[in-house]
Amino acid sequence: MISEFTVGQKVHAALLVRIQKIGISSNGKPFARGLLEDASGQVGFICFDEETVNKLRLIEQPVPYVIAGTVDVNKFSAEMKLQITVQKISDLMSEDDISHLLPVGDFNKAEYETLLRKFINMVKSPVMRTLLENIFQGQIYDQFLKNPAGMRLHHAYLGGLFQHSIDVTKLAVAMGEQIGGVDKDLLIAGSLLHDIGKLREISADFGFPYTTEGRLVGHIAITAIMVQSCAEKLKMPANTLEQLMHILLSHHGDVEKGSPVECETKEAFIVHYADELDSVMNQFKTAKNDTWTYNKMLQRYLLDRGV
Ligand SMILES: [Fe+2]
Ligand SMILES: [Fe+2]
Repeated sequence: MISEFTVGQKVHAALLVRIQKIGISSNGKPFARGLLEDASGQVGFICFDEETVNKLRLIEQPVPYVIAGTVDVNKFSAEMKLQITVQKISDLMSEDDISHLLPVGDFNKAEYETLLRKFINMVKSPVMRTLLENIFQGQIYDQFLKNPAGMRLHHAYLGGLFQHSIDVTKLAVAMGEQIGGVDKDLLIAGSLLHDIGKLREISADFGFPYTTEGRLVGHIAITAIMVQSCAEKLKMPANTLEQLMHILLSHHGDVEKGSPVECETKEAFIVHYADELDSVMNQFKTAKNDTWTYNKMLQRYLLDRGV
């Protein structure tokens, strides 16, 4: 596994390849650089082998290959990070074990499924409850249990979207109870559904690539489309749907962060802050105990004291 690599080690393993740059170095020879990934993490790579660089040129999505190379130190990295000098890549054989390539969430799935049903049952409005029951079933539900919530920034592991949606609901309900004077049905539905469009935005395939629809439409709009079509079938009253739609569309908080409208209701603010807080707290999963760890999403060093 990548997290166990040490300097000087020879690597021969199935890893996910993500290309960052292919170019010509100062000596006129081609090079490729990018990232290698497995469930334990990622490491940079560099490759100067012409035949291999030409093969890497053809890669569009992150794809698994058998990588042969050596672990050394990236001298250009301020933190003296490890990197792999890749000598050769070869196609996977059907017998190659690739189960270690997709990261998996470390939460109790059965417990979270019980929580999902508990939250849905807490919804008092029959039409809102039916909306949730209709969305969280069949193929969409199976996919909801499996998809990541992000490609790389937060909850980027199998089950990440499911865990994130439940944790946002927990936080929003707790904040709603503390604040008072809020519509709990809207908080629950808004939290559970806020990122449902990620099912169509991000694929659960290797490297969690964006789908074409994801790139062209984005998860906020896809969420609105999915919820709108389900609500129409149920003839949900227009003012209820508007309130729910407002939470979904404003959950990123600001127009600069991709939301078409800004939070204007108590419920929208609560879901937005619950979403943001959960995404930030998730960053500590990759921080090492009692060590400063640089975090890309937050662009700062984090310290988890492991209390
Ligand atoms: Fe989102
Ligand atoms: Fe979210």
